[in-house]
Amino acid sequence: MTKTQTLEVRIRMYSDNGQGEFKAFSLPCEGEMNVLNALEYVHARLDPSVSYRSSCRRGVCGGCTMTIDGKILLACMTDLHDGIEIDPYTVE
Ligand code: FES
Repeated sequence: MTKTQTLEVRIRMYSDNGQGEFKAFSLPCEGEMNVLNALEYVHARLDPSVSYRSSCRRGVCGGCTMTIDGKILLACMTDLHDGIEIDPYTVE
């Protein structure tokens, strides 16, 4: 039997004034989860205002590209860990 642990994810949320702030969410993690799984959980069960894009879920389309712990990565191919920081991918 796989043990369930609680992980905290920090997602940068933007308000109408354009100021982004990290908001922390706690979610159960059983076995291996990736960042896309975490975003789906948060959107479905904790905060429907969390939005993201995805399509293939296999690391092919690039639709889930975002900044994760300061690196530009694919959410569907990045393993989840406690305290992870998830940011939109922005081109400056
Ligand atoms: S959903 Fe296509 S690369 Fe992640």
